[in-house]
Amino acid sequence: MVSDAQPELLETPVRRLVAEAWTFRRQVELDAELRFTRLAEQLAQLRAPEPIVALARRAAEDERRHAGMCELLARAYGQVELPPAPLAVEEVAPAGMALRERVLYELVAACCITETESTAVLTTLLVPDATPRVRAVLRDILRDEVAHSRLGWAWLSREHAEGAAGFLARHVSAMLEGSVSPRLFAPGTPEEESAALLKHGVLPHTRKRETFVRALRDVVFPGLERFGVDTAPGREWLERRGAMGA
Ligand SMILES: [Fe+2]
Ligand SMILES: [Fe+2]
Repeated sequence: MVSDAQPELLETPVRRLVAEAWTFRRQVELDAELRFTRLAEQLAQLRAPEPIVALARRAAEDERRHAGMCELLARAYGQVELPPAPLAVEEVAPAGMALRERVLYELVAACCITETESTAVLTTLLVPDATPRVRAVLRDILRDEVAHSRLGWAWLSREHAEGAAGFLARHVSAMLEGSVSPRLFAPGTPEEESAALLKHGVLPHTRKRETFVRALRDVVFPGLERFGVDTAPGREWLERRGAMGA
């Protein structure tokens, strides 16, 4: 138990949410480790330049470290049981795609979308009144996630230059769908909206949704468009979610 995280000062339902959030993040980080390990191998198979392959390998190591930090925080907030570490993570591209398309699909979904979203969440969470221990972890993870997001943009830029990225447009909405919990656009419970969460590295539900939507509009969509990916289907997806006014 850590003194500066002050978990004992939190009301139980909120503390439980904080513990669950860090537990969930640990799983996401462990999945990401497996994903980047596979992507590094696949990029090497595709004869990607060595710095790109090295970035993917480095990302896998970062994610393992992040998982360890998330685990410590989850336990500090009272999480006793942690789910087993995943042994494998499925590829996100639809079946039947060739390796080159699958890799671009997965790098765009995992890095350009998910890591960019994660960067936005972490930046929002770095509020001055967050506990020092939480801030230290957030800052550490944020620095790496920015680099992971760049890996996706770098590969997309390369593939776009070779005319190989246009096919992504018809997949953007599926990627977005895969990047969010279905609950994101549903109302949160009073505990999930508690402002007390912020101090402990968790966004209240409405802030989470707003942060997601803003990052899509301000960073993800303009970035994809810059590399020739039509985002009209993605923007329609967001509109269907009733979030354009969020
Ligand atoms: Fe991470
Ligand atoms: Fe990451």
